[in-house]
Amino acid sequence: MRIIFFAGKGGVGKTSVAAATGIKTAEMGQKTVIMSLDVAHSLSDIFDLDRNLLDKNRGKPVKVGKGLWIQEIDILEEIGKNWGDIHKYLSLLLNTTGLDEILAEELAILPGMEEISLLLYINRYVLEKKFDVIILDCAPTGESLRFISIPTALEWYIKKIFKMERTLAKYARPIAKRLYDVPLPGDDYFAAIQYLFERLRGVDKILTDPSTTTVRLITNPEKIVLKETQRAFMYFCLYKMNIDGIIMNRIIPDNVNDTYFKDRMKSQKQYIKKAEEYFSPIPLFPVNMFRDEVLGYESLKSLAGQIYGDKDPLDRFFEGEPYRLFKEDGEYRLVMRLPFLMKKDVELTRVSDELIVRVGSFKRHVLLPRQVAAAKAIKARMEDRHLYIHFRGDDHV
Ligand SMILES: Nc1ncnc2c1ncn2[C@@H]1O[C@H](COP(=O)(O)OP(=O)(O)OP(=O)(O)O)[C@@H](O)[C@H]1O
Ligand SMILES: [Mg+2]
Repeated sequence: MRIIFFAGKGGVGKTSVAAATGIKTAEMGQKTVIMSLDVAHSLSDIFDLDRNLLDKNRGKPVKVGKGLWIQEIDILEEIGKNWGDIHKYLSLLLNTTGLDEILAEELAILPGMEEISLLLYINRYVLEKKFDVIILDCAPTGESLRFISIPTALEWYIKKIFKMERTLAKYARPIAKRLYDVPLPGDDYFAAIQYLFERLRGVDKILTDPSTTTVRLITNPEKIVLKETQRAFMYFCLYKMNIDGIIMNRIIPDNVNDTYFKDRMKSQKQYIKKAEEYFSPIPLFPVNMFRDEVLGYESLKSLAGQIYGDKDPLDRFFEGEPYRLFKEDGEYRLVMRLPFLMKKDVELTRVSDELIVRVGSFKRHVLLPRQVAAAKAIKARMEDRHLYIHFRGDDHV
């Protein structure tokens, strides 16, 4: 079983690359499903599917080729299946606050419900070994980060809050009923949450197990896109998900001679070089801008050819953590493995929320999380082939 996430900023080519990869793995004889949370249904559009067929299928996988399925989550179906009692309570609660019933029902679709529904599918498919490959066409960065944080957040909620809330509600219910109009959740609500949580159990391990799951970030050679890719890179690292490729999409090919594109081509080259500095040792996969948009099976196949060439898309192109950030003795520490043993001095430069690390010819840009970026002092030490950077240390380097 292999799971590959395709994530990145809005519009960079996630759906195209995810679909292209799925076509390739299915052609290799691997039973593949491409899943998406996209409400715009671009996955079905890209495969030129009949909308009626999809609507009838109600969020279940649709076969689009030999050994290839696509699945777009239909939240209303999922509410019927997974969220019944939870949604019912939330709509009732919102309805008692004076909201119109239909609006209350709509608002009671909480952010996160769709993501959890998708996680439930992943867990089930892995347990039932239903597919060989699961490909995830993620939502734009922010939302996909929320997606990967759900298992941890839920675990925390269930461990720390849930039991207390359930007990409290049990004792407070009869009193609250007399005093307030607002209903407290009934036991079916809690039972439904618990049941949901049980079905999610283990999904966090699947997502952080590098032998199963890897993340590929799609980016474009542009300033703002790259900045967001750096941010996604940092967060996926913090969640300990294994990033094994950066797909640099929409490069204007070298043989374009039109002077109109001259400046753009030059700046693209600079950004590609920067991307190597930002993301190394994770390999970069360059992909040219096509003459036209990427639509339909043949065009996607040719996109897959550009990305992977002779490589097997199921390989793990990089294993390990490019860096690790942790908190010890009240201090944030960042550890980075150096490509070879170096005796030179470490040079650290901070430019707003970015740390630039130089050791001889080795150079890395690390985008820092907010708490760390605010640290006043930084010091570094080398040990074996590792560089340790301490934040809030007292002497500067
Ligand atoms: N290499 C490429 N050459 C030309 N067009 C491309 C290329 N990659 C993607 N496109 C086109 O760019 C548009 C956006 O691509 P796509 O839908 O895959 O992006 P996305 O990241 O999934 O967007 P969203 O964030 O909206 O989901 C599409 O029209 C697609 O055909
Ligand atoms: Mg998309």
